[in-house]
Amino acid sequence: MSQRAAFPPPPRGLRGRRAELKTLAHALTPGARIALVGSGGSGKSMLAAALAHRVAPRFGGRLFWFRIGAWDYRTLVEMLALRFGTTRDRAKVVRGLCSALAEPSLVVLDNHEDDAATARLLMALAPSPTTFIITARRCLLSGVLLFPVTAPEVTSGESAFSRVATLTRRLRWSPLALDIADAFVASRATTAPALAQFLDAHGVSDVHVMEHEDDLPEVALLVSWAWSRLSAGSRRALGVLAHAFGDDTDVASLMKLARTRDAADISALEGWHLVQEVAQNRLTVHAVVRHAVRKRTRPMPEVIFEHYVSMLERDPSRVLTEQTHLFAAMDHAHRVSDMQAMLRVEKLLSRLEQSA
Ligand SMILES: Nc1ncnc2c1ncn2[C@@H]1O[C@H](COP(=O)(O)OP(=O)(O)OP(=O)(O)O)[C@@H](O)[C@H]1O
Ligand SMILES: [Mg+2]
Repeated sequence: MSQRAAFPPPPRGLRGRRAELKTLAHALTPGARIALVGSGGSGKSMLAAALAHRVAPRFGGRLFWFRIGAWDYRTLVEMLALRFGTTRDRAKVVRGLCSALAEPSLVVLDNHEDDAATARLLMALAPSPTTFIITARRCLLSGVLLFPVTAPEVTSGESAFSRVATLTRRLRWSPLALDIADAFVASRATTAPALAQFLDAHGVSDVHVMEHEDDLPEVALLVSWAWSRLSAGSRRALGVLAHAFGDDTDVASLMKLARTRDAADISALEGWHLVQEVAQNRLTVHAVVRHAVRKRTRPMPEVIFEHYVSMLERDPSRVLTEQTHLFAAMDHAHRVSDMQAMLRVEKLLSRLEQSA
């Protein structure tokens, strides 16, 4: 398998992170393990991508990005083995990974959630000269340097988004919300004062209990502002991304699943920063936007399962870019206790391992 899996490109439009980048680049000594810890949408993943590109020459460009989420240890090592084309055999998998990482490399473990799984993975890979950046909302791991990530400029009280500076306090300095609001205004679809009026009219400053960390009312309000202005195709595409199993979706799959042939349906979402391009032609939605969109759309698990499993059955070489959809398809099959689906995915995994 020659296809290289994607590492996010250097983030465009990174604001207010000069000091953090300088400190972190200094702290990232060979073999270091640094966790960027902060609330949802505070900018950890964007900072991790910027940092990784900044220090890439130290690692001869050997940068690897894994969105690990809450996967258990076994799934994590399988994920890495598939990516590196090493054995999935339980007895040899760690040795295989350590030899794939024999040269100094930088591995980003994005979205860490399961302390036990990540601790075991880090200890398993400890014999290799690998440097790790972890992003996490919280992190109870010893042996890892914790670096707090707060919203850009929140501690200085300045605004990192000058076009919508007047919205900074209303949007609680959230770079996720400010970036979307900034894109609305940049597109001339509205103005900062009109958006302020909309947010105030819809109670942006009201105090109530949030459902969980992805339930950010300011972002839900911005999604609501956009929803009535988006085409039906754009709304369907946003729904697909919000319900997709895997991490990110290639544009062709997205258009197919959203039943649109109009590229403008997708570019409208990009223009308003409601989706992020994590690699060329691969899109995702942030967890907070996903939560807001899920409330407006219906899941379509069978359609998504069929799309990805049949895609990989046809073309196994796509596993490097679509592996999270594959693991999520397996997860889905287990969740709904669909034995036939489980066997189909297991068969596919064995085929993929043989062709690695
Ligand atoms: N420094 C920044 N400059 C400009 N925009 C930013 C910055 N940080 C974050 N953003 C905006 O906020 C969005 C969310 O950032 P990011 O994905 O890095 O958050 P996160 O902390 O990793 O969230 P989560 O905990 O949900 O993974 C980005 O896609 C971007 O739109
Ligand atoms: Mg993140």
